[in-house]
Amino acid sequence: MKVLIFKTPEEATEAAYDMVIKRFDEGLKTIGLATGSTPLKLYEKLRQSNRDVSHITTVNLDEYVGLEPDDPQSYNYYMNEVLFKYMNFASTNVPNGVAEDLEKECERFEEILRRHPVDLQILGMGPNGHIGFNEPGTSFDSVTHVAELTPSTREANKRFFEKEEDVPKKAITMGISSIMDSKEVMMLAFGEAKAEAVRCMVEGPVTVDCPASVLQNHPNAIIILDEAAAGKLK
Ligand code: F6R
Repeated sequence: MKVLIFKTPEEATEAAYDMVIKRFDEGLKTIGLATGSTPLKLYEKLRQSNRDVSHITTVNLDEYVGLEPDDPQSYNYYMNEVLFKYMNFASTNVPNGVAEDLEKECERFEEILRRHPVDLQILGMGPNGHIGFNEPGTSFDSVTHVAELTPSTREANKRFFEKEEDVPKKAITMGISSIMDSKEVMMLAFGEAKAEAVRCMVEGPVTVDCPASVLQNHPNAIIILDEAAAGKLK
């Protein structure tokens, strides 16, 4: 795994943006996307780039169970607002959190991943080391599935909701094995709150207790940090 450390999240984002654009120029066909606050600036820069992306398919890591795609808290809504409505992607794919049959929805999503192998997966991480909504304890063999959110993840995400009880308890998420199938992964982590999880990811043992540590086994993982997130690295 290659670790790059920048002074600020802005500088880190600039470097991430340059790498993504380079991959676009090299003919990337499918990009995997994350939501959350970490990649927001990256998406802002992408939508301002006015790139023709009509040959690129997107797949997203996850979606809350029970939120309609037009619910402002849903990840479908987030992606439309921050990226999709500004760019002409060939197709965009975010799990449907209100599918009647959630198991079938997970299978449908895995089928999309088979048809569109991900060239580059953008990732963020939770303070507990989760990637997607793969919480500590999730099998490294997992594929797209319905996951229970841990209390710490619901706590971390409540900032996006009016009331804590509004934070969904479940999500559909690509599994760890689905994420590891991507040809390249780019993890972004900013801020002191991520420093301990970053340490476990980069220096800790590879263990399901810190899902992001699995990236040590990825042949093409690039970790982009600001100084605060890198604060606990040796
Ligand atoms: C979102 C996702 C999550 C987030 C993580 C960090 O699609 O998969 O794993 O990347 O929770 O969230 P932020 O960036 O809000 O700190």
